[in-house]
Amino acid sequence: MEDHLHGLDFLPRDPAERREAEGTEGLVEAMRYSLLAGGKRFRPVLALATCESLGHDPSRLLPTAAAIELIHTYSLIHDDLPAMDDDDLRRGKPTCHRAFGEDTAILAGDALFAEAMRLVCERQKGGPAVQVAVLRELSWATGVGGMVGGQFLDLRDAGHRSADALRLVHTLKTGRLIAASVHVALVLAAPPREIAERYRRFALELGVLFQIVDDILDVAGEEVMLGKAVGGDARLGKATYVSFHGLDRARELAAETHSRARALLDGLPGSHEDLLHLADHVYTRRH
Ligand code: IPE
Ligand code: IPE
Ligand code: MG
Ligand code: MG
Ligand code: MG
Repeated sequence: MEDHLHGLDFLPRDPAERREAEGTEGLVEAMRYSLLAGGKRFRPVLALATCESLGHDPSRLLPTAAAIELIHTYSLIHDDLPAMDDDDLRRGKPTCHRAFGEDTAILAGDALFAEAMRLVCERQKGGPAVQVAVLRELSWATGVGGMVGGQFLDLRDAGHRSADALRLVHTLKTGRLIAASVHVALVLAAPPREIAERYRRFALELGVLFQIVDDILDVAGEEVMLGKAVGGDARLGKATYVSFHGLDRARELAAETHSRARALLDGLPGSHEDLLHLADHVYTRRH
């Protein structure tokens, strides 16, 4: 995964178009700075692991897995902007806008999203039907009913209203892209409907779990481990599982969500060792 991401230079392949893109080096530098700063690569690895557990060759999904990491990185760059969470540290380095300025950071995020679409169109194997189905999952996961809508609700403090509203914000802002990482593998492997449905429910729980743990780490984690500042949620008065339920109850809810996710894989055909490890990692992670 890491090699695949390093291999992306984002410039057009056509030599004439490449020359026309001269002068954009600063933009590409900012994109690569944030993309290659580290990061757990949880979403692309989840996509590949799902593919494997469905008995499909994961290497066939690499371009789409990379596209998901590009979209995720774009969401982080924008999430850190002064108009949003106003953070200075990400993946152990100054945030994109701190290093390159707000104007470049906004464009780097925009370009990462567009380049993700291009990766799927130009590199994902399986023909137009697979590509369109993948693009549909990615746009679903990032649009109004997905990450961007969730970020809007987060900024409007929708999660303060009720436990259900909070879970929904987490489902949208973080869960959808994690769910899409599982869904794209379903597109490729096309298992029977009931089996696909079980994977979808697993992905939903895993996505919510990921953000519950992120909320817990914002109060109980360490900056050096996380590579990002702690305490930002309280500073901004964010609705989180910790602010709404308290730390102890948030931990219980994480444990319950983790168990539900694990149980959904029980009895499915094939081997799910890697998916179970990923679910355990999301639950126990400290970074
Ligand atoms: C952080 O995501 C933002 C959330 C959606 C909680 P990650 O914890 O996956 O961040 P990286 O990719 O490892 O930096
Ligand atoms: C971010 O949630 C969700 C995104 C869509 C990026 P957070 O704002 O809690 O993520 P961190 O804690 O800054 O990584
Ligand atoms: Mg945020
Ligand atoms: Mg943030
Ligand atoms: Mg957070």
